[in-house]
Amino acid sequence: MSTVNYSDKIPNNVNLSEDRTLQRALEGWLPNYLDWWQDMGPSGSHGFDVYLRTATSTTPDGWATFGHVKMPDYRWGIFLAAQDAERKVNFGEHKGEAVWQDVPGEHRANLRRIIVTQGDTEPASVEQQRHLGNTAPSQYDLRNLFQVNVEEGRHLWAMVYLLHKHFGRDGREEAEALLERRSGDADNPRILGAFNEETPDWLAFYMFTYFTDRDGKFQLNALAESGFDPLARTTRFMLTEEAHHMFVGESGVSRVIQRSCQVMKETGIEDPTELRKLGVIDLPTLQRYLNFHYSVTIDLFGADQSSNAAIFYSSGLKGRYEETKRSDDHLLKGDGYKILEVKDGALVEKEVPMLNALNEVLRDDFIRDSAGGIGRWNKVIEKAGLAFRLTLPHKAFNRHIGTFAGIRVSPDGRAISESEWALNVNQWLATKEDRAYVASLMGRVVETGKYANWIAPPPIGINKQPIDFEYIRFN
Ligand SMILES: [Fe+2]
Ligand SMILES: [Fe+2]
Repeated sequence: MSTVNYSDKIPNNVNLSEDRTLQRALEGWLPNYLDWWQDMGPSGSHGFDVYLRTATSTTPDGWATFGHVKMPDYRWGIFLAAQDAERKVNFGEHKGEAVWQDVPGEHRANLRRIIVTQGDTEPASVEQQRHLGNTAPSQYDLRNLFQVNVEEGRHLWAMVYLLHKHFGRDGREEAEALLERRSGDADNPRILGAFNEETPDWLAFYMFTYFTDRDGKFQLNALAESGFDPLARTTRFMLTEEAHHMFVGESGVSRVIQRSCQVMKETGIEDPTELRKLGVIDLPTLQRYLNFHYSVTIDLFGADQSSNAAIFYSSGLKGRYEETKRSDDHLLKGDGYKILEVKDGALVEKEVPMLNALNEVLRDDFIRDSAGGIGRWNKVIEKAGLAFRLTLPHKAFNRHIGTFAGIRVSPDGRAISESEWALNVNQWLATKEDRAYVASLMGRVVETGKYANWIAPPPIGINKQPIDFEYIRFN
């Protein structure tokens, strides 16, 4: 069933009206969700007509319908990718068995934890981004922000549906708690570190959507392999939405670079201090933002050795990225994997059982995928004839989870002393001054077709619309 039913109060393609108890429970959660959106969703967005895409089917082609929608009237719903009746568990100890349509009792606690952890990131990012609309560099960008926000809200619905349908009373309690935690709150924070950081300006937003939404891509891909079929189907559809979020990040950073390079070429000025007087973002500042967002994001994959990761895999709950494309035995029992540790002041490789290193396996997949965009950003700089190059810092740099927590490592991968760290950290991570400078550039540009001075316009608009399309009607 790929077509979404929009005549129900909660749009869905899961025959919600046939399960009255579940429908009532979710309709009870709906007003709480809307209250949360009102309080913690994008500030100053209410009452605008925004050119948004809405899912109307879950087939890979043509699921999106574009049109102007009043923001609070957006129809959040429950959309699962089509069921494959023949689907089998593809890894772990249940490999070859039919996938589960209900939660197996022995995996219930672990599955709930996986779903709650994923679900918690979705409203968290909306909270982190809630003030950005006040400083949007264009209508086009404001529209992209709102698109990302409504879809993260929908991702919360995706996880809450699973909690309500499959976890009874504890599921309903977890669904409530997802609306109660707050990003950055000292008493009741979001579950994962990166989702309690601020996203105070648009450069941070683009870095977040490039790196942190990409963490989402990898987590969702691992869950799309799950033997618990409803989780696999819901994450599969979430992935089609996620691609746009990463596009917003990659193209956003690229446009910042393009504008800075244009000004450098026109004026011959490359010195950051002088460049800042011209109102664009210097590339060393961009590199420091990159270092921060990258290192905070790779912490999200968890400890490099984890017995939970081994259990999640062996019990068929969470696979690897592109599990079914891999040619090993999908059990991994005798296999090893190289991770890094610090020995006598140097980083050295050591081989550990792969099952325990699956967080690291997923992190390394993420790192390879992240590198692609860096190459494309560097092409923009190269084309402008400038020598500067962006780089991904070493994966041990600025880590707070796993082996490297509490160990100082430079961006080029040397274990260093606390004093060397202190001497250089302002060259490596965005400083207060950097952030204050970037903040000083942020001003609301909302005239149709206008773009802020610090960012280039996109080459084409959304849904092939022109770049001076009226993406937002302010009324
Ligand atoms: Fe999401
Ligand atoms: Fe996302």
